Amino acid sequence: MKKMIKNGTIVTATDTYTADVLIEDEKVRAIGQNLSDIYAEVIDASGYYVMPGGIDPHTHMEMPFGGTVTKDDFESGTIAAAHGGTTTIIDFCLSEKGSSLKNALNNWHAKSEGKAVIDYGFHLQIAEASERILKEMPRVIEEEGVTSFKIFMAYKNVLQADDETLFQTLITAKEHGGLVMVHAENGDVINYLTEKALKEGNTDPINHALTRPAELEGEATGRAAKLTALADSQLYVVHVTCKEAVEQIADARSKGFHVYGETCPQYLVLDQSNLEKPNFEGAKYVWSPPLRDKSNQGILWDALKTGQLQTIGSDHCSFDFKGQKELGKGDFSKIPNGGPFVEDRFSVLFSEGVKKGRISLNKFVDIISTKSAKLFGLFPQKGTIAPGSDADIVLFDPNKERTISVDTHQMNVDYSALEGMKVTGEPITVLSRGEYVIKDKRFVGKPGMGKFLKCDKFPRDAHEKIEKAGNLVK
Ligand code: URP
Ligand code: ZN
Ligand code: ZN
Repeated sequence: MKKMIKNGTIVTATDTYTADVLIEDEKVRAIGQNLSDIYAEVIDASGYYVMPGGIDPHTHMEMPFGGTVTKDDFESGTIAAAHGGTTTIIDFCLSEKGSSLKNALNNWHAKSEGKAVIDYGFHLQIAEASERILKEMPRVIEEEGVTSFKIFMAYKNVLQADDETLFQTLITAKEHGGLVMVHAENGDVINYLTEKALKEGNTDPINHALTRPAELEGEATGRAAKLTALADSQLYVVHVTCKEAVEQIADARSKGFHVYGETCPQYLVLDQSNLEKPNFEGAKYVWSPPLRDKSNQGILWDALKTGQLQTIGSDHCSFDFKGQKELGKGDFSKIPNGGPFVEDRFSVLFSEGVKKGRISLNKFVDIISTKSAKLFGLFPQKGTIAPGSDADIVLFDPNKERTISVDTHQMNVDYSALEGMKVTGEPITVLSRGEYVIKDKRFVGKPGMGKFLKCDKFPRDAHEKIEKAGNLVK
């Protein structure tokens, strides 16, 4: 059935204006003043922003990690995402040394098919750069619609790859239109510092942060950026947390290299002191890279505002406190790394960013949705409200005040890292390709209504033009 959104304020990455939106056959059909269609259901958006659905470029659903498996799967995780205003996630598909990329993708398709309630794509981990894997990468790009490849520079003896693997992946990605993503921390030095801390009897959660200093994130970020420049390739640095890493990205970008960066809401609103909470509660705040000293928060906000960082990912990697985070009692290195954020990413960025005057409303849409669509080959199908685009739309009440809590969140996890935080702004109704997923704050979708998205190749030429025009710094 057709739908007509009336009386709302449309907000995209570039414009804010009042108009009606006609939706038909999953797409935005028309935008204009006083549209009428007697066959369309009218949705009254008075007092609401009408925004493109959020695109979360960084999630880990049902992922084996840290001796356990993340708690949210593609069903509970995407329901929570939709409640939070997100209509697309790009999830990290893990691969195994000695096994094909196709096997890894089949495994992730099996986890997600029939479960997701919003659309989703995959990034694919490269665990080794064997001849077979490097030959398979172009096939994955052309046939599977997976065009972004992740290298872990940390998690020694588990996920970590060496620099040769990173460099060969960068070269292959450049040749075939892929985008390489890195978790940038120096895993070898972290391993040394971790073993030393444990030997000295320093076992509490705070030691997670103390053994992963910002210098090691800066060093790895700079190394990855320099290898990217040498390969004349393209790089996206996930979960940037600190001045040291922002500086490396800004330096590479100032020299014209294709280096992009993402931060996460947790690094904008939480800090290292959270890891010192008593009764092992600090474990709830264990991410890698770790939460940093508060002084980094302003640097990250500035980097988002000036375009040195382009996106925000939730890094949603949810574990219960009971039974999962508790695996690390008496040994901080066994605390599963990660936390629940897919539901709060949109609202936290709006409340702390737009409402507090740190970023403009249009910049918000760019960071929360549009830029990820552009970087990961989904634009203009996703990431904007325009005729022909998928009708992935959020009706957002910008003035609603509420308190984040485990008691009201939808994520399948037994704590909120933001318990008690007051935010302004709430997604009210969420459409995915024109169908209600959330209607008046209630989930009305069905598992399986979300579809797998084939991503286009990294649009390097388009990005070059945008950067030359200076638009990335808006
Ligand atoms: O602590 C984190 N970030 N957990 C998720 C895995 C990763 O490194 O992104
Ligand atoms: Zn990571
Ligand atoms: Zn992650």
